[in-house]
Amino acid sequence: MLKGKRILLIVAGGIAAFKSLELIRRLRERGASVRCVLTAAGAKFVTPMSLQALSEDRVYSDMFSLTDESEMGHIQLSRDADLLVVAPATANILARMAAGLADDLAATVLLATDKPVLMAPAMNVRMWTHPATVANVETLKQRGIHFIGPNDGAMACNEYGPGRMSEPEEIVAAIESMLAPAERPPLEKPLAGKRAVVTSGPTREAIDPVRYISNHSSGKQGHAIASALAALGADVTLVSGPVAIADPPGVATVHVDSADQMLTACLAAGRIDIAVCAAAVADWKAARPAGSKIKKRAGMAPPSLELTANPDILATLSKRGPQRPALVVGFAAETENLVANAVDKRQRKGCDWIVANDVSPAIGTFGGERNTVHLISASGVEEWPTLAKGEVAMRLAGRIALHFGRPTKAEAAE
Ligand code: PMT
Repeated sequence: MLKGKRILLIVAGGIAAFKSLELIRRLRERGASVRCVLTAAGAKFVTPMSLQALSEDRVYSDMFSLTDESEMGHIQLSRDADLLVVAPATANILARMAAGLADDLAATVLLATDKPVLMAPAMNVRMWTHPATVANVETLKQRGIHFIGPNDGAMACNEYGPGRMSEPEEIVAAIESMLAPAERPPLEKPLAGKRAVVTSGPTREAIDPVRYISNHSSGKQGHAIASALAALGADVTLVSGPVAIADPPGVATVHVDSADQMLTACLAAGRIDIAVCAAAVADWKAARPAGSKIKKRAGMAPPSLELTANPDILATLSKRGPQRPALVVGFAAETENLVANAVDKRQRKGCDWIVANDVSPAIGTFGGERNTVHLISASGVEEWPTLAKGEVAMRLAGRIALHFGRPTKAEAAE
């Protein structure tokens, strides 16, 4: 529930603006009040009248309106809110915010705010994947701005890929997870005092400044594990490769690109009790990444790419001598002989447990919402039912608490 929470919703100019109307409805159903700022481009897609009717509040658009400024200055507009939500967040507003511009009311409010900000990007797939947008998103994430989406799918411009704004229900869930924790009754904290590192998402290994080797990991499983450990009281550092999902609240997130950077960030976390390596780390990288873009010239044969092995983060943490975490958990992504390969991987890498998951494309584990896993330890193999990734995470966190002799209520009841 969001009872009593005040949301300032900035509606920028994109076809997805129509979903913002539904978002207002959903937020108000949960007890939040919504005040809207509409950009000039946003007003080409939805009318101030519709926003006003659904929010039952006036709509702000003009930075130089004497009436607006005397009734509600632009600074006050952001200070009066518990959370700012930008939906849809266009490439333009992301760029303006990253550059610190204050050239209209929406950008000024975003620059002036001291409140958390959630962005729900929506744009053409090529705009979303353009290096300029990628860099702007990274800059904003590093400044603590939260992101939800975008989702993959067919787009209004007849293209397919990431760029669709998240659905209103998904945005509401992200808002609830940002605002509701303080309202929830205190959870039991069996992992209080324990320090954990979780790796998540893919890594990107540069071939040249514009090309890279990577994979389809979305970070959903790793991020959910970081959240679940934090919910049980652990002090969690999440080391995340490039993903499109929001940083989990209550977790210190370090953003990295490559396996080398991921290893450095894990080691920089210092003494830890628990390591969970859920990232899909690229096994190989270019032996000699080019310093400038490799040119394609007429008649030229395709260049060959020499690869070299990346550091193995899981094995490094598992074999760290006195600094080894008390519990090291790896994942095994397999497409055949799931359990046998995972058992072998646990031994080779030297971790305590390995969570084996089938990543055959037909199953859709990479990027999907659910996961079917086996938990493998020295004492045997446990088969878990197919669960949402959040449930896999909570179950795993519960097992970790039990390992430290501090069962959660759920574990104690089993
Ligand atoms: O991110 P999602 O879309 O939610 O998908 C989740 C997932 C499928 C990525 C996740 O559940 C998963 O299986 N993660 C591990 C993927 C992987 O790289 O598996 P692997 O079998 O290649 O590696 C085994 C283990 O070694 C993993 O813990 C991996 O993090 C680790 N590893 C691998 C190579 C390397 N250089 N360093 C490592 O630490």
